[in-house]
Amino acid sequence: MKLSNRLQLLLGMIADQYEQIWDCCCDHGYLGQAILNTRPKAQVHFLDVVPSITTQLEQKLRQSEFSQDRWAVHCGDIQQFVLPKSDSCLGAQGRKLLVIAGVGGDLTLDMVSAVLHNNPDSDIDFLICPVRQLYKVRSGVQKLGLGLVNEAIVKDSGRYYEAIHISTLSQKEVHVVGESMWDLTQEGHQEYLRQNISHYKRMQAQGSESVRKILAEYMKLQELPA
Ligand SMILES: C[S@@+](CC[C@H](N)C(=O)[O-])C[C@H]1O[C@@H](n2cnc3c(N)ncnc32)[C@H](O)[C@@H]1O
Repeated sequence: MKLSNRLQLLLGMIADQYEQIWDCCCDHGYLGQAILNTRPKAQVHFLDVVPSITTQLEQKLRQSEFSQDRWAVHCGDIQQFVLPKSDSCLGAQGRKLLVIAGVGGDLTLDMVSAVLHNNPDSDIDFLICPVRQLYKVRSGVQKLGLGLVNEAIVKDSGRYYEAIHISTLSQKEVHVVGESMWDLTQEGHQEYLRQNISHYKRMQAQGSESVRKILAEYMKLQELPA
């Protein structure tokens, strides 16, 4: 199975230290299966809200070569998600990472917020890769008190995505338009920045005054050394 550029990037950002990885909103489960293949110490949980998706995926995994003590499939709403207690079997011990990828920015932010609300005493890391509304997501996770671990930009099927690795344990500020991910020596990054600036200029021209601040943040990035 060949992973898309986007999923390949996410896989590469997952360090070996994680023992429990949740592929939330897993759909086809490609990312979780790639984690099972490449991170032999990790246990992988697949979570999706659609029963037909999780039933099919479970059948597929049962027929796979992956040992059954390394994975579990859960059908449920991530907004109701409560981490397993340490006296249950799979999914209790070690550092935890929740991956939320491929859903809109608003929903991603709601999901992260709900997970933190429902698990107030847990240290949790998230790897998120929202579709659109990146500024809103970044401002939102900043307000939720999450700190940055790592961030990156990827182009996949003609569209740019940001992958943002954040943690309740990190003190590093999540910048509203991203910081360390930008490498303006790369033509792709310049293109992505131009797209953001054009988008917010169009919005401003339509009379949306609130975008002035956002636009100024993106414009500031142009001053970075290329
Ligand atoms: C476009 S797929 C993303 C698949 C994969 N994560 C990726 O990045 O390619 C979005 C998935 O999110 C699931 N989903 C949407 N809302 C959810 C929720 N509240 N809880 C769990 N899964 C949800 C949908 O059922 C769908 O399978």
